[in-house]
Amino acid sequence: MTWQRYWAGKTHGQHAFKDEIFLARKANAQLALLGPGKSLLDFGCGAAELLVHMAPHYKYIIGADFSSSMLSMAQKRATSYKLTNIDWIEADDVTIWNNPIIKEGKGQVRTFDHITCAEVVQYLTPKQIERFLDNALSHINPGGRLLLSGCIEPLLLQKWRKGAFVPSWQKGIYFLKNFARQAVIIYRKINKFEHVDPNGNAYPEEFMWQLAAKHGLNMEIYPSTIFEYRYDVLIKN
Ligand SMILES: C[S@@+](CC[C@H](N)C(=O)[O-])C[C@H]1O[C@@H](n2cnc3c(N)ncnc32)[C@H](O)[C@@H]1O
Repeated sequence: MTWQRYWAGKTHGQHAFKDEIFLARKANAQLALLGPGKSLLDFGCGAAELLVHMAPHYKYIIGADFSSSMLSMAQKRATSYKLTNIDWIEADDVTIWNNPIIKEGKGQVRTFDHITCAEVVQYLTPKQIERFLDNALSHINPGGRLLLSGCIEPLLLQKWRKGAFVPSWQKGIYFLKNFARQAVIIYRKINKFEHVDPNGNAYPEEFMWQLAAKHGLNMEIYPSTIFEYRYDVLIKN
C-alpha cells in the first residue's frame, strides 16, 4: 500500500489527542520556532488540525495535501473557525510546485515567509526529502523559514515504544501495545506491504545534518516539546 492510498479517505491526522487545546499547543510550538511572518505554505496540512490555530497569525496561507478527504475536512474546519485567508491545493511533494496557485499569473513563482511540514517527513523517502527541501527553499523569501516538525528519531522511537518515558505502572500497557504493533509489522511484511511500519520512516538527526552539509543549509534541530521521540528541523533562508 502506498502512503497516498493509506491517507485516502482519512479525515484526521492521527494526533495523539484530538482536543483543541492539545492541537493549539502543537501549533504554538511551531509558531514559536517560526517567528513572525505574513505568508505560509503548510505542506501536508491534513485536516488543518494545526493550521486553524496558526492561520490567525498570517495574512495569506496555502494548505496543500495529496488526500482529498483530509483537504475537505480541512476546509470544513477553516469555515467553522471563520478563516478566509487560506487557499487549498490537492497535490503531492512533486506536483505542488507546478500548481497554478503556486505559479501565479504569468508563471511567476509565489514565495512564502514560512513553509511548514508537520509530521509529514516520515511519509517521504530520503530522495523525496532532498528534492522537497530543494524546491521548498526556492519558494521561501529572504529571511524566511522552513520547518519540518515532528521528525521521528529511530532510537528514541524504539525506547518510547518500550515505555522508557512513562511511569512504571504504565510500562505494561506499552509492552502490550508494542507486542500488537510488532504483530502488525509482521503481517504487513508477509503481505508484502510497501510500507511495513505504520509510523513510516524514522530518520536520525545525523541524516538531516548530512543534508544540511551537502546543501549548505543554515539548519537548527530542536527536540520536540510534545513527544520524546520526535524532533523539529528549522532551516533559515
Ligand atoms: C500525520 S498527518 C499531519 C497533518 C498535519 N500536518 C497536522 O499536523 O495536522 C500527515 C499528512 O501528510 C499528508 N502527506 C503525506 N505524504 C504526502 C505527500 N507526499 N504529499 C502530500 N501530502 C502528503 C497526508 O495526506 C496527511 O494528511
